[in-house]
Amino acid sequence: MSSARPALRLTGVSKTYAAAGAAPVAALRGVHLEVRRGAFVSLVGPSGCGKSTLLGLIAGLDEPSAGSIEIAAGAAAGASGVAYMPQRDLLLPWRTVMQNATLGAEVGGGDRAQARRRARELLPAFGLDGFENALPHTLSGGMRQRAALLRTVLLGRPLLLLDEPFGALDALTRGQMQEWLLEVWARLAASVLFVTHDVEEAVWLSDRVYVMTRRPGRVKLSVDVDLPRPRERRMRAEPAFAAVEQRLLEALLAEAGEPPRGASCGTRAQEHPP
Ligand SMILES: Nc1ncnc2c1ncn2[C@@H]1O[C@H](COP(=O)(O)OP(=O)(O)O)[C@@H](O)[C@H]1O
Ligand SMILES: [Mg+2]
Repeated sequence: MSSARPALRLTGVSKTYAAAGAAPVAALRGVHLEVRRGAFVSLVGPSGCGKSTLLGLIAGLDEPSAGSIEIAAGAAAGASGVAYMPQRDLLLPWRTVMQNATLGAEVGGGDRAQARRRARELLPAFGLDGFENALPHTLSGGMRQRAALLRTVLLGRPLLLLDEPFGALDALTRGQMQEWLLEVWARLAASVLFVTHDVEEAVWLSDRVYVMTRRPGRVKLSVDVDLPRPRERRMRAEPAFAAVEQRLLEALLAEAGEPPRGASCGTRAQEHPP
């Protein structure tokens, strides 16, 4: 099984942003990373270290400056194998939940009726049953994120790229969404690359967690999480959980460089420390 081609393999991926009249920004340098088929993999790293840049490259929005990105073939012919939910995924405010959810099928020229059928099937699992005609502003934050995830899932791609999907939610909603996401992921049998800056969230959800350095980001540490599945809440209190979390946290904090004042590592001052 382990010899099967992975869902995603990055080899030496680098990205430098060049802009006229400004110094080039090296966002990523030599990233190696792999997502096995069906695995849930998280990427943690300080703010500004290139996580969103990396997902954008995998989603094909931009080209790497160097290195290669291999993605297992997509489910839909002619489509990339990737469904990408950007960090600030906005639902279109004038469209209902259903209309937002099926947007991908519409834009991609897919079968609209089939997308609506599939959306209807999934609404209960996404906690949106009865809300298909609701407009986004009438929903809670958690519901909006589930609607955005529904739109991503409806693309029917075997690899999901999720960029800090729960970052803006309150702690309680976030915890509920994490448990919910694990259930949905188990049902979909998809491979996931999940970006977060929350180490506990990463451990709880993942089969493997990668820690990135500050910018230019590269992989500093990779840890496999051997907790059984389905994950149960009490596992968070187990020593095995705490040990993995601690290891990751230390690696991450070593990159932060400064006291945790919400400082970003994406500033020039941190790129060239005194
Ligand atoms: N389109 C762009 N042009 C120039 N610089 C960019 C662009 N996108 C991101 N960057 C820079 O690349 C670095 C990494 O950004 P990003 O990938 O958003 O980090 P993260 O998601 O880890 O917080 C930052 O310094 C950011 O300012
Ligand atoms: Mg980001």
